Formats: sequence, structure tokens, C-alpha cells
Amino acid sequence: MNATTANYTAELASFAANATLSAIPTSFLALLSIYMLDNFAVMLTGSVQPIYRSAVEMVHWTYGNDSSQAYSAIDGTTTSLSGQMLLMGFAAGDFEYNHIIEAAHPSSTVFPALLSVAAAYHKTGEELLTAMAVGYEFATRIGAATTLEVEYVKGFHAIGINGYLATAAAVGNLLGYDTDTIASAMGIAASSASGLQAYTTNGAMTRRLHPARAGQLGAEAALMAHAGIVGPPDVIENPQGYLHAFSPEPLTDLLTEGLGTDWTSADMVLKLYPVHAWAQGFVYAINNYRSQTNQTWNADDISNVTIYGGPFVLDPVTWIPNPPSFAIAQYSVPFAIAAALTTDLRDLLVMNDALASDPKISSIAAGMSQIQISDVDDYPWGYMTLEIGEEELNITVEEYPGLPGAEGYREAAEDKFAGVTESLGVAGAGNVMKEMIMKVRDLEDVSLLVDEMVGVGKMAVAYFAARR
Ligand SMILES: *[C@@H]1O[C@H](CO)[C@@H](O)[C@H](O)[C@H]1NC(C)=O
Ligand SMILES: *[C@@H]1O[C@H](CO)[C@@H](O)[C@H](O)[C@H]1NC(C)=O
Ligand SMILES: *[C@@H]1O[C@H](CO)[C@@H](O)[C@H](O)[C@H]1NC(C)=O
Ligand SMILES: *[C@@H]1O[C@H](CO)[C@@H](O)[C@H](O)[C@H]1NC(C)=O
Repeated sequence: MNATTANYTAELASFAANATLSAIPTSFLALLSIYMLDNFAVMLTGSVQPIYRSAVEMVHWTYGNDSSQAYSAIDGTTTSLSGQMLLMGFAAGDFEYNHIIEAAHPSSTVFPALLSVAAAYHKTGEELLTAMAVGYEFATRIGAATTLEVEYVKGFHAIGINGYLATAAAVGNLLGYDTDTIASAMGIAASSASGLQAYTTNGAMTRRLHPARAGQLGAEAALMAHAGIVGPPDVIENPQGYLHAFSPEPLTDLLTEGLGTDWTSADMVLKLYPVHAWAQGFVYAINNYRSQTNQTWNADDISNVTIYGGPFVLDPVTWIPNPPSFAIAQYSVPFAIAAALTTDLRDLLVMNDALASDPKISSIAAGMSQIQISDVDDYPWGYMTLEIGEEELNITVEEYPGLPGAEGYREAAEDKFAGVTESLGVAGAGNVMKEMIMKVRDLEDVSLLVDEMVGVGKMAVAYFAARR
């Protein structure tokens, strides 16, 4: 990289300052509504997780919970704007169910904080959609440009760090800041950007904290810049800046090539199960096989499972045969496949601590073998062989409707939404919410959307608590 000629920060900041709704293709706008629908479904599932309850307790202590405070998180907790952004971020990212793209998760970093700020400032649906497009595009481009070496070589959690800059830029667009202010905001956000991969080898929950903090502190960075706190104006390419700190061999062209015409964030992978992205195709194939052949399997009869897949599916980082906690079970590819063999992971209420410590699932996961059949890193297909009692099965993985551009993508998102609202006892209210999200472009004030979401969220939390 030639540090003297590269102006990536200024170019990106100018894009964020000048992006308007009319510049966003209709097809991408339609996708953004689907993303928003998915984010809302995922936030409902996230708000009933144990880690979310812990976050609420911490927010009570640090951000205040006086009922005179104006901001409500998805479960109805009343707090400050900062507390709301943090909790919304936990809800969106703590169940491993949000849509993603390689090295970026704007669904759990950018979206929850942006939504909170848009409601606080009574922005319109059009303004929210435009800022969302900016934030999604920033996270995706910075993630792709910095590459997964951020994680493999440097040890930082990629989605955590790019989420800070992306949220700062999205909030800057939302609030109408100019190029210099947004560049300064990115500089401030980059100074907070962090998140270590140290959770992968133990039971830690920090992976679930990273997106929430990225959104919260990224948004605050934008407000700081606006208030007059000055950040470095060239933080991405600065010799002591973002690329220097996080990315040993950045693909810098990906930062700005086609910016404004190629919406690279239109390629989000939808998760149909609350497990690691690389297990989704296999879990989908198992469910299909079982329902097409109308079989029920007894976990005790399952043995000798071999996974034939591509490098990412078999990646040692996520090939964790003995996950030490629920958080890491959701990150483990063999756990997900073993769990899917014994239960239907579309039923959200089954994915919990008890499942993560189920000895039958652990034993299937621990005995699972793998064989690489493709050199294409992100090869999503393959097959698996296993024995059920005396019977030898071969299950082929050849379709997955959550892949970008897949036929049935939109339907899969709608089915997921219906399944989530149904299992949390809010199917009726969920349908009203869905209508509102699908017409978000016509909305005059995003705070009305958030009020509705909180209404449904409170009902879901009450339903879940009563079920336990
Ligand atoms: C506010 O937080 C305190 C703990 O700091 C807690 O005792 C109290 O119940 C909370 N109030 C509400 C309304 O949640
Ligand atoms: C599936 O199995 C159940 C019970 O074993 C049976 O009642 C049902 O008719 C079967 N359905 C099909 C499509 O074979
Ligand atoms: C387990 O499956 C593999 C691959 O299908 C096969 O080669 C092997 O013989 C099987 N082992 C046992 C003990 O059944
Ligand atoms: C299993 O099916 C795949 C096709 O999906 C095929 O390539 C493979 O040879 C089969 N393996 C066995 C052991 O039958």
C-alpha cells in the first residue's frame, strides 16, 4: 500500500456523507427490508437468552434504569440511549442467529445502534434505510479488505473491529454530518475498535459482546465527532492506523472499488438455525432428509459420522468437538451437525445450555471425522455418511435457501420470522410488525417502529419466562 497516495478514509467518508436513497438500487432496498425483518426476529430470540439478562443487570447499574429515562431496549428495559444501544446489540448478536457475510456482521453491529439513534432523533424510514445501506456496505467492504487474517494472524475478532467504523459512518449519514466529521468519527471509532479471539478455546461469552460494543461505541464516536472531539482524518491508511494495526496484507482495492454502484453487502447469508454459518447447509440437509424419508432417529443408534466438505466447513478454528459451553457449542460445526441429527434445530426453544451439555450429542460430535473434498475455501456443499443402527446413510448437501441469490431466499426469511414469532407466542403481533417493516419506506418516524418492536419484545419475554 502506498500511504502517500491512498485516501481510503476520505473517499469512504465522502460516500457516507453524500449517499441518498435515490442512489440505492430498488433490488437492494427490497433486500434491506428482508434484512430488517430478519434482524427483528433475531432480536426477539436474543432478548430471552441468559446473557441478555446479565447485560440488563449490568445496564441497571451503569447506565441507569430510572423509569423517567426515555429509551427502551427490545425487552422493555428503560435506560439511556447508550444503554439501549448496548442491549439492542446484545439482542441482535447473542444467539448466533443473525445474517452474515464473511468477516462482517452488520446485522448485529450496525443495525441495532443505528435503529436506536434513528428512533431517538425521530428520523424517517427512508433515512433509516439509506443509513443502513451505508453501514452494511462499510462493514462488508472493510471486512473483505482486511481479510480473515485479522483473526488468523492478528487474533482480533473481525466483525467486532469493522463494526465500529461502519456504525460511525452509518450514524454520520443518518444525522447528516459532512465528510470531515464522518472521517473524524471513523478515526474515533477505530480507536475503540477491539475484540479478541480468545473466546474460541474456552467457554467465554465475549464473542457475544463484540457486536454490541461495536454498535454502541461506533454510534457514540459519530456523536463525539459532531460535538467537536477530533479524530485522525485518515485512520484507515494512516501508518499507525487501522490497517496497520489489524490487517497484515489488506486487499485495499476492495475498500472503494465500485463504491456506490456495487452494493457488496447485498450478499448476506441468512442463518436458518442458531448455529455456526458453516454448519447451516449440513443441518438443512439433515432436516430435509429426515422429513422426506419421514424418519425419527434415536441418538443412541447414531455412529460413525463423517463430514465431506470444503475448507471453511472443516476449519480447525470452528471444528470444536467438545465445546465447553453453550456459547461455544453455537460456534462449533461438529456440535451443530451432531445436535441436528438428534433434534430439530428449527425449534428455537431446544437450543440452550441443556442441549449444549447433552452427553449423546457430545459423544456424536467427539467421534465425528472429516474429509476435505474441495479446495475452494467457501465451498458450501458436500455430503456426510453415518450409521443409524445397522443402516448406512449418505446425506447430500446441495442446496441451501439462505445463500445470497438463492431461489426461496425471501421465503426462507419469512418462514424464519414466522417460526420465531410462533415459538415465542407472538405470532399475531409479529404479523403486524412484519407489515410495518415491509412498509418502512413510508414511515415518518422510526420511533413508532421501535415502540412497536418493544411492545412485541415485552410479550415475547413474558411468554418465554412463563414457559420455563
Ligand atoms: C433498577 O436497577 C436496580 C439495580 O441497580 C434494581 O434493583 C431495580 O429493580 C431496577 N428497576 C427496574 C425498574 O428494573
Ligand atoms: C410419517 O410417519 C408417521 C408415523 O410414523 C405416519 O403417521 C405418517 O403417515 C407418515 N407420513 C408419511 C408422509 O409417510
Ligand atoms: C465409518 O465410516 C467410514 C466412511 O464411510 C468407513 O470407511 C468406515 O469403515 C466406517 N467405520 C466403521 C467402524 O464402521
Ligand atoms: C455419497 O454421496 C455422494 C454424492 O453426494 C457421492 O459422491 C459419494 O460417493 C457417496 N458416498 C458413499 C460412501 O456412498
